[in-house]
Amino acid sequence: MTAPLTGPSTGPLIDGQGRRVKDLRLSITDRCNFRCVYCMPEDGLEWLPRADLLTYEELTRIAAVCVERWSFEAIRITGGEPLVRAHVPDLVAMLAPLGVDIALTTNGVKLPDAAPALAEAGLDRVNVSLDSLCEHTFEELTRASELHRVLAGIDAALEVGLTPVKVNTVVMRGVNDGEIVDLAAFGRDRGVEVRFIEFMPLDAEGGWSRDRVVPAKEIIETVAAAFPVEPVTAVDDGHDEPAARWRYLDGKGFVGAIPSVTEPFCGRCDRVRVTAEGKFRSCLFALDEYDLRAVLRAGGTDDDLAAVIETAVAAKWPGHKIGRIDFIRPSRSMSQIGG
Ligand code: 5AD
Ligand code: SF4
Repeated sequence: MTAPLTGPSTGPLIDGQGRRVKDLRLSITDRCNFRCVYCMPEDGLEWLPRADLLTYEELTRIAAVCVERWSFEAIRITGGEPLVRAHVPDLVAMLAPLGVDIALTTNGVKLPDAAPALAEAGLDRVNVSLDSLCEHTFEELTRASELHRVLAGIDAALEVGLTPVKVNTVVMRGVNDGEIVDLAAFGRDRGVEVRFIEFMPLDAEGGWSRDRVVPAKEIIETVAAAFPVEPVTAVDDGHDEPAARWRYLDGKGFVGAIPSVTEPFCGRCDRVRVTAEGKFRSCLFALDEYDLRAVLRAGGTDDDLAAVIETAVAAKWPGHKIGRIDFIRPSRSMSQIGG
């Protein structure tokens, strides 16, 4: 399928703080087959009605505007859990002609079955969430007993070349912080980059508190005590990564620790998000949303879409204020925004 034409490039999209925006995160569902404690309540959330979700055609139109007008360089497909939506390879095949890096963030459960078709459709790589290698802790964190499926999913992704496979690990004090070295060792052995993420106040149940956050600095010191590392200074994949990355001195790959809470990377932020129901957000923690679905379904042109996106991006703030007295929690959880 060919991508829709959206007119000539108008150069880069620059936000109100002078940062270039070039990474589009598309949430394609708010549903999930896990109930991670740092994200969702045990009973789940009230799911969006099917008709409220953007169609794959609508998602592709938004992506085409971003890539063709402003030369966005990356598209990330997220959820909820994106692979609970049907026919994700169809969406990938629609986005692939845009010619940019396409990645998918998944909890991995459906990857053993889905990986081949995703690769075939043109997906470049996957980020798989994995918070524990211990069956019991995995279940405590995700409220699902699917560790074996997730591990098989990582293997399947490696097998079909959805690489580099990255593993996201949310670290919670007193829950999985004792497994940092085991998880790092797992990454080294499998040839996947583990990126440890500080627990952010984006859980649905309000269980976040500062003392449950394990600082990235502490995480890396823990890793380095077992496996010596050196910091990676150059941006070596041509893409600004929020993850502070380190290289193992023995050559066994890389490890990351994302200090979203203790040292926010907002100054280098290049991303924007679209929720499953088509709300455009300039930050995970943004308090304002802009309704792209309304524009799409009112028969709006690509210029109309672009105008709304430009307005939202112009209003993008310098950064979030977690830990400051004036921090306001967004009313959505991670699964409702898109990871
Ligand atoms: N803090 C940090 N990371 C989170 N994620 C979900 N909720 C949170 C939170 N409160 C992460 C998941 C996954 C990605 C989609 O978002 O671990 O890797
Ligand atoms: Fe699902 Fe991801 Fe939220 Fe876990 S963090 S409940 S896998 S959306």
